[in-house]
Amino acid sequence: MLTEGLVVVHECLGAADQRLRRLVLKGPIAKTAKAGQFVAVLVQDSSIPSYDPLLRRPISLAEISPDRDEITLLYRIQGRGTEILARARCGEQLSLMGPLGQGFSLPEVGELWLVAGGIGVFPLYALAQSALDQGLNVRLFWGGENQSFLISAGLPAWQALEIPLNLSTLDGTLGERGLVTEQLQGRLSELFGHTKQENTSSPQIRVATCGPKKMMQAVTELCVNYAVPVQVSLEERMGCAVGACLGCVCTLIDKAGTLSHKKVCQDGPVFRGEEVVWDGLC
Ligand SMILES: Cc1cc2nc3c(=O)[nH]c(=O)nc-3n(C[C@H](O)[C@H](O)[C@H](O)COP(=O)(O)OP(=O)(O)OC[C@H]3O[C@@H](n4cnc5c(N)ncnc54)[C@H](O)[C@@H]3O)c2cc1C
Ligand code: FES
Repeated sequence: MLTEGLVVVHECLGAADQRLRRLVLKGPIAKTAKAGQFVAVLVQDSSIPSYDPLLRRPISLAEISPDRDEITLLYRIQGRGTEILARARCGEQLSLMGPLGQGFSLPEVGELWLVAGGIGVFPLYALAQSALDQGLNVRLFWGGENQSFLISAGLPAWQALEIPLNLSTLDGTLGERGLVTEQLQGRLSELFGHTKQENTSSPQIRVATCGPKKMMQAVTELCVNYAVPVQVSLEERMGCAVGACLGCVCTLIDKAGTLSHKKVCQDGPVFRGEEVVWDGLC
């Protein structure tokens, strides 16, 4: 599980003020990784031997290319760890742990709707590619702050997939003005009407979502209301990333009302939305 990735591309993604980066790594991990899994990247500065920062940073797999032995990570510079990562140069080997966690599962047939908030769209790109390879119909609902963000964070790559896109921005500069959940609600009620129904009519819809917690909670509530199965990719702060420190525990509830504790790094990050106890998450 401990492996290395050779930096083959490391570039600014979109407008500089968005602080987004695209990092392509070559290594054996591409052969086994699955959409929804992540890697824990060691972000220590290789020119200064030290153990600081000690903790690896979890980043999702945004693209997996087993034929080229490459994975792509898309990330936002948030703090110290990602600032150090942003200094990695082409030709450097990065220490990786992974692929980690349980990824998304794909339905055999039907339609997959991806619902993304902000940079939550990154892991959904790998999922879209797998679903399209499998012959599924894919639709993206994606909400962001404004047009500049959506274009910077990969809209052209999504447009190249030639799938239906339902875009929304908070300021209305691209797509509908408002929240991505409003678009999802609109599309669900167009298909199923305004009342709760069993989702037995054709086409069978499945939803996968990633983004801010409040958004994923709202997406889950909508899906439950329309009896549409939903997978959510949780983002908890992580320590060890391999199930040892219990730093990333979330609470699930099953149909009988029994609570259980699961580790986001090992049992997730992808869970069935209807099982997540949202108030238990930070
Ligand atoms: C399973 C998983 C997959 C992820 N995939 C991606 C990805 O594909 N692209 C990407 O840009 N980021 C992703 N993240 C978030 C990424 O790990 C954090 O942004 C990163 O660890 C921040 O490290 P830092 O040292 O730069 O910032 P820090 O100095 O540690 O923190 C800076 C700010 O970021 C917030 N932050 C730190 N860690 C997290 C976290 N895990 N979740 C939410 N907020 C956090 C802190 O609260 C703080 O406000 C993922 C996180 C998880 C758990
Ligand atoms: S981060 Fe240590 S158990 Fe999940």
